[in-house]
Amino acid sequence: MRDKLTASKVLKYFAIVYVVCSLFYATGHLLGIGKSSSSKRASIAPRSPADEKILSVSELQERYHGNHQVTWGNTEEGTSEDLMLSKVFSDAMGPSKVIPYYFKAEASADSEEVTIATLVTHNRFKVLSRLATRYKGPISVAIHVNDDASKQEILTDLHHLYDENPDMRRYVDLHLVVDKFDRQFNMWRNVAKFFARTEYIMMLDVDFYLCTDFRKSLKANPQLMDILRSGTGAIVVPAFEYLNSDDGEDWNLFPTNKGKLMGEVQDGKLDMFHISWKPGHGATNYTRWYGASEPYKVVDYTFSYEPYVIFKKEGTPWCEERFIGYGANKAACLYEIYLAGIDYWVLPDDFLIHQTHHYPLETRAKERTYNKKLYSYFREEVCLRYSRTMIAAGLWDTSRADNVKRECAKIKGFNDIVTRMIG
Ligand SMILES: *[C@@H]1O[C@H](CO)[C@@H](O)[C@H](O)[C@H]1NC(C)=O
Repeated sequence: MRDKLTASKVLKYFAIVYVVCSLFYATGHLLGIGKSSSSKRASIAPRSPADEKILSVSELQERYHGNHQVTWGNTEEGTSEDLMLSKVFSDAMGPSKVIPYYFKAEASADSEEVTIATLVTHNRFKVLSRLATRYKGPISVAIHVNDDASKQEILTDLHHLYDENPDMRRYVDLHLVVDKFDRQFNMWRNVAKFFARTEYIMMLDVDFYLCTDFRKSLKANPQLMDILRSGTGAIVVPAFEYLNSDDGEDWNLFPTNKGKLMGEVQDGKLDMFHISWKPGHGATNYTRWYGASEPYKVVDYTFSYEPYVIFKKEGTPWCEERFIGYGANKAACLYEIYLAGIDYWVLPDDFLIHQTHHYPLETRAKERTYNKKLYSYFREEVCLRYSRTMIAAGLWDTSRADNVKRECAKIKGFNDIVTRMIG
């Protein structure tokens, strides 16, 4: 018993040392958020009469280097794309060969469009094809290909998919991740986001059927578009599921407006996605949604919340690539997005429905247990990183820090540490 206690104390010490070390690696991500508005930047740097205008990096570069551009990473100097991509995805398992735009969509999208960023496995190619035809808009998809003999079959099937469906050719950018590592979901999510070619992305699981046209709803709501543009909000499209899984097989019969959906909800046929795991989508507050006619802000955020969201590509956090396998991986992405000061707003009339699939399910219990532990360390680390970054950037007393303050206060000892950081 005593041994156990000492061991857990030692572990705790290691955790603290680790977290403190990682603080020094704070990425300056939040400083990046302030960059778009010069008034914000001005408030970060100390003002002095001698320093009236704060020069931007490119202005400084011009002052000190004149027209001699400081360049790096061009091919003449030998920095290859492979080297750059290995740094871009350096938190993931490697070595890995990322091949961007293995297929490149023919259509070019408006920069204000929403690109669906998703990942697909071999057994879900058909749903991807269906999604392309249903969405008729930009899709960026990462697909993992095992670096073994199975490669050939997957690639052949992919080519068939593009041959068969003109909407695949028109809309879908496809990026290959070739390596020996399965289920690196967050790295694959980052690949799909990184190579998306519009300003906004929707992080979606490919199994979902788009019942409504959320792009039309967004465009009709200037207030929501402003929130998206400013990078201070992510838009939730609520997800549903048939209680009897057979009802979820034929998407042709799915409701395509809220009135019809409500009928099936009242008949007890449809309910929130993953009713058996309330924390996953509960914060959307379905009771409220049923009566909502205006977008509303999520007020009961919890760290297990993992809705499908539309958000700005630039200036938003990436998914933590240390989460490998099942459990916590998507929730970790949404946690960091929330802590960065991005609120979740729910669309009142749009929704998705999960399509039933019958694929063999292996047991993933081990991965879930491991990721649960990692997630609890990760939350402490991210809380410390964001609070420290926001304090250093002079954002602590702005609304940017509201989410960190509220959510991280749930971690034991957090408020004491912050008091010491400020003092
Ligand atoms: C959900 O929304 C309803 C209706 O607006 C409200 O009464 C209820 O308190 C909300 N639930 C939670 C958990 O916040």
